[in-house]
Amino acid sequence: MENYKLFINGEFVDAASGKTFEAIDPGTEQPIATVAQAGKADVEAAIAAARKAFDSGIWSGLAPAARLAKIQDFADQIAQQGLRLAATESMNAGQIINLAKVMPLLCIGFARNISLYAATKFPWEEEIPASGNAFGPGREFIRREPIGVCVGIIPWNFPMTMAMWKMIPALATGNTVVLKPASYTPLTALILAEAANAAGIPKGVVNVIPGSGGEVGKILCTHPDVDKVAFTGSTTVGREIMRMASSTVKKVTLELGGKSANIILDDADMNLAVEGAIYGTFSHQGQICESGTRVLVSSKISDQFIEMFKKRAEALRVGYQMEPTSHLGPLVSREQLATVEGYVKMGKEEGAELITGGKRIEAKGIKGGYYYAPTIFANVKNKMRIAQEEIFGPVVCVIKYDSDEEAVAIANDSIYGLGGGVFSSNTARAERVARGVRTGTMWINNYHIFSDFCPFGGYKQSGVGRELGAAGLHEYTQVKRVHVNYLADRNSSMNFSLLSDNKRVEGFGYNCPTNVVAGHGALSSIYKEVTNLGCRRVLILTDPGVRKAGLADLVKNALADFCVGIYDKIPPDPDLQSVDAAVDAARELKVDGIVSVGGGSVIDTAKGVCVTLKNGGKANDHLNFLVLTEPQTPHIAIPTTSGTGSEVTNVAVLTSKGAGRKLFIVDTRIMPNTAILDPRFTMTLPKELTVSTAMDAMTHAVEALTSIMSNQICDGQALHAIRLISENLPLVVADGKNEKARLNMQIAATMAGWAFTIAQVGLAHGMAHTAGTLYHVPHGAACGIVLPKVMRFNVDHAASKLALVAQTLGVNIKGMKEREAALAAAEAIEDLMEKVGHPLRLRDVGVSEDGLMMCAFHAIADTADMFNARPVSDPMEVLEIYKQAY
Ligand SMILES: NC(=O)c1ccc[n+]([C@@H]2O[C@H](COP(=O)([O-])OP(=O)(O)OC[C@H]3O[C@@H](n4cnc5c(N)ncnc54)[C@H](O)[C@@H]3O)[C@@H](O)[C@H]2O)c1
Repeated sequence: MENYKLFINGEFVDAASGKTFEAIDPGTEQPIATVAQAGKADVEAAIAAARKAFDSGIWSGLAPAARLAKIQDFADQIAQQGLRLAATESMNAGQIINLAKVMPLLCIGFARNISLYAATKFPWEEEIPASGNAFGPGREFIRREPIGVCVGIIPWNFPMTMAMWKMIPALATGNTVVLKPASYTPLTALILAEAANAAGIPKGVVNVIPGSGGEVGKILCTHPDVDKVAFTGSTTVGREIMRMASSTVKKVTLELGGKSANIILDDADMNLAVEGAIYGTFSHQGQICESGTRVLVSSKISDQFIEMFKKRAEALRVGYQMEPTSHLGPLVSREQLATVEGYVKMGKEEGAELITGGKRIEAKGIKGGYYYAPTIFANVKNKMRIAQEEIFGPVVCVIKYDSDEEAVAIANDSIYGLGGGVFSSNTARAERVARGVRTGTMWINNYHIFSDFCPFGGYKQSGVGRELGAAGLHEYTQVKRVHVNYLADRNSSMNFSLLSDNKRVEGFGYNCPTNVVAGHGALSSIYKEVTNLGCRRVLILTDPGVRKAGLADLVKNALADFCVGIYDKIPPDPDLQSVDAAVDAARELKVDGIVSVGGGSVIDTAKGVCVTLKNGGKANDHLNFLVLTEPQTPHIAIPTTSGTGSEVTNVAVLTSKGAGRKLFIVDTRIMPNTAILDPRFTMTLPKELTVSTAMDAMTHAVEALTSIMSNQICDGQALHAIRLISENLPLVVADGKNEKARLNMQIAATMAGWAFTIAQVGLAHGMAHTAGTLYHVPHGAACGIVLPKVMRFNVDHAASKLALVAQTLGVNIKGMKEREAALAAAEAIEDLMEKVGHPLRLRDVGVSEDGLMMCAFHAIADTADMFNARPVSDPMEVLEIYKQAY
């Protein structure tokens, strides 16, 4: 009789206590080997070896390709031991030799497949291209790293396969392993340890310690140096393992029991279904966790099915497992035999009809052995214990049902959800049934088929996590997210500023990819811009006012054949539905580019259209911050109001009815590709709109200049925009056809847009957004009215910047203190507004006094406030400003 030892830290050793136990052949009840029995000291030594090996990096620190090479050597060593492994597995686990002899081959394939996948396709490192967090820009990537010391506790039904399922994914991902085989079947795991050793897998990386589940298992599941426990076995023990592992919060994967339903539909091919049920229930004496031990048969065919099923079951040859003609071998142990006998007795008492089997049998030519006849119970009710509890033997329950829905309901009436089958000649119908069953694997017209790349695991109380395939590898890694700050500077971090009084953000990235073509006749550049962008079918988006002014047709003519239509239904202050309607039109016409002709309403809609066209779905799907990772549908913007700067900004402002307010798409990738600033397009703009949109641009400039994100590039743009507006607005008000002044206003709006897209805005915007949403006050008008009041509110936080505004507006600040000059800037803005006929009070633009409080509460929730020079959080302060503007 052979002696098997423990494998700890690269050596085969006796148990510290010197204890051994016997491995038995269940087919003869004769001992076949003595095995060292691990005790406390051995378990601790194995854990310590695995811990040391892991921490040393000797394995975890290898490149996946280097681990692959070693695992391939391991596979070769298994191949060399193939015959011994097959014979030992059969003899020790009672597996028929015809099954056991293919197992080494499958194990080698598994080792090679999984380790190659881990080395070549597993996503060890991944860049996260869009972080979705606008306040912490930087490189984001994730690494997948091994978990550490992984314990595998495995059952006695497929000892070699289970050992490989635990070892290979763990090893391929850089972990070290302590494996505890089942006490009944310790031998093949120790032969695998020999193979690992011969392959040169470093010492301590693999340890195999047979021993009692109670003693060894308990230490493994509670030891602080163990990082993960992967267990295959009964649900009862699984619960206990989970409980034990909880004290040190180990990662746990559990592959537990089942009571899987094999559903035979009334249109099934009978011969196939019967064979599937035979294979699905009686393979390896039914000692397989995913066995289809509840055969659900349509009542339309149940009599015929049961007759054929019984006949086939009775034709199965039960015999010694090493005898090549045996279909079924012995059960694994006396205890398992007793369990099966107990359930059969129970089934009879519960009123199920025993059709065949139900008794021990003797194998030809052999004395002893735990053989049991294939057993079928018919007329089983799903609530019976034999239908609810896992028996783990050659005992099957046949349950009748009347409809597919009832079959699914019965299948799901179980605490388990591991496997299952459907037999039908209609694949679509079978798939419908398969989708309805809450279980981890469903086979259609087949059973017990595994694939290295397909995950295996349980729903409900059949388990936690998955084995095999990519999903199985993920269970042996943990994810580390790494963030690398874009600007590694204390004063450039918005989140650090939360705990600091310094809200100024000093560093900045300046990214403005829009190509601007400006000047009289700039429109003619559109033909070239469209072809540069690779577009052939362009849709013009506009609104009825702009269309009426003849501007969209001007563009259509310039585009010639490239224009496939004009969509002119965009309303002021567009909402998500406005975008969706335009997207529908664009999809219908199969457009590949958008030209927007209009004010902010049109251009913002167009931005939403470009995102939705590119990414699919509805506008609401894309209302978000910094999530676009690719260029969007090409967009050329031709602004007609010279106010918002939307032609160059990274924001689309869209009303969401669901949210009851204006929300944003914010992303560099929505900046139009080209902006054409042609003064002819603003010359038709009525005076009132000329003034209000100009004040939108003015607000952008002033708020960008004073915001906590302001920077020198944007400051320059903002100040120049302020100067251009203050000089040219009176001119265009006096003469709307003053082309030079119109162009200057367009340039001012674009520069202000550039400035605020990087430097952001502030409280005036938050307040204007609110007045716009609640009272439909045009955005520019609302901005203008509140801007001077907000400037005064900010005076002590932005005095030097506001003094510059005063100077730029032509105030003689000589002799003034900075604060005084800053206040003079607010006054100069009011003077300008008065001069050009801008409304000065909220009461004049339809806001109700009663609503100011509501406005204040809404306004403090607007994101624009976050960038305001003076921190804003008190609605009462905001209410006060609204009152001043009222
Ligand atoms: N994306 C951004 O960066 C940004 C910035 C600020 C504001 N906005 C948004 O922009 C929208 C406001 O845009 P807007 O102020 O440009 O107004 P708008 O686009 O709503 O246009 C206002 C009106 O002016 C008419 N009009 C425009 N140009 C004309 C012309 N040349 N001749 C005759 N009539 C003309 C339009 O038909 C419309 O009726 C708001 O929804 C606001 O939230 C966006």
